[in-house]
Amino acid sequence: MNNQPEIAHTQSLLDKHLPPDIFEKLKDLQTGSGFTLHDAVRSGRENPDSSVGIYAGDAETYRVFSEILDPMINEYHRFSNDRRHMSDLSPTPLEDPDPEHLYIVSTRIRAARNLDGFAFTPFISLTARRKVEQLFLKAVSDYRLAANSRYIAYENLSDKEFQTLAQSLPLFRKGDRFQESAGINRDFPKARGVFFSDHGGLLAWVNEEDHLRIISMDQGSDISGAFTRIADLLTFLENRINFAKDSRYGYLNACPSNIGTAMRAGVHIRLPGLDRQRNTLYRTAEKMNLQVRGTGGEKTGIRDSIFDISNKQRLGITETECIRTLHNGVAALIRMEQQLSGSL
Ligand code: ADP
Ligand code: ARG
Repeated sequence: MNNQPEIAHTQSLLDKHLPPDIFEKLKDLQTGSGFTLHDAVRSGRENPDSSVGIYAGDAETYRVFSEILDPMINEYHRFSNDRRHMSDLSPTPLEDPDPEHLYIVSTRIRAARNLDGFAFTPFISLTARRKVEQLFLKAVSDYRLAANSRYIAYENLSDKEFQTLAQSLPLFRKGDRFQESAGINRDFPKARGVFFSDHGGLLAWVNEEDHLRIISMDQGSDISGAFTRIADLLTFLENRINFAKDSRYGYLNACPSNIGTAMRAGVHIRLPGLDRQRNTLYRTAEKMNLQVRGTGGEKTGIRDSIFDISNKQRLGITETECIRTLHNGVAALIRMEQQLSGSL
């Protein structure tokens, strides 16, 4: 039985926008540090069920391979070549979409960042990964109550210690087969770790799919609160680290689905009625620009009718628009769920 929440696979963006004849024409392209088209498409080729299928090895990938990437990016993010990305991290008060705590289990907002001048994770050396880790830990060391924060370095943990910690802490695991093919898992678990700030719900994954994944998460449905916390840490880091950025594309990251705001604002939400009518759920999500993921993260199944609903588009909308998209979408899904259960 297919329990995967993603819309049935048709064709990856890679296959759609890089047919064999164009691949032949462009196959000798590479960036200054030697990231090739073959490197970029390896994951998509080895995993024909990819939805995107391409990764960037460095910031320059987006310029050198723009003929391929622009149309993929435009389609994924509903963007166009004449537009420029804008950022807005200002506080955004929103009404609680689930004041009686009937549907939303938890809220999580993450934003990816890569350090300027370093290869991205598909192409980075171990030495550079270590440098990224050091630079981040130094920059974050005077963030608020640094004395009450901690960094869990994976390298020092036995498998058993890791498993035990992972039961209670949001640690990341070695990447899936898509990331494996892209080269992202190279040298795992070296130079990987998770930083926890004094506020338990504010953390950073170091050297997962991107150099940094800044994450704000909490039980319940306080989307504005989670946003205020992540905005605070992102702004703090922005003043201390040079991130890879482009005037048109915003923050540049390993996967083109994650550029722009690089923000995925989501909730875990229990929707038993819509679980029985998944096509309706998927159609509504698509219409409202939302992504539906599984309970255990991307490409996982649904447990206990709990869906991960988040903004799909990350480029061409600001961060505040990301959370408004989530907020509007979740409010609509809750209304649909109430109608299905007869409580409206
Ligand atoms: P990412 O968000 O970094 O792109 P995933 O979709 O794989 O990647 O999610 C990462 C992890 O975060 C997974 O373990 C997933 O179950 C967890 N997660 C996602 N959203 C929530 C949420 N709203 N509440 C709690 N955990 C969440
Ligand atoms: N490369 C995978 C695919 O094409 C994942 C794409 C989006 N997700 C991500 N984590 N970058 O299906």
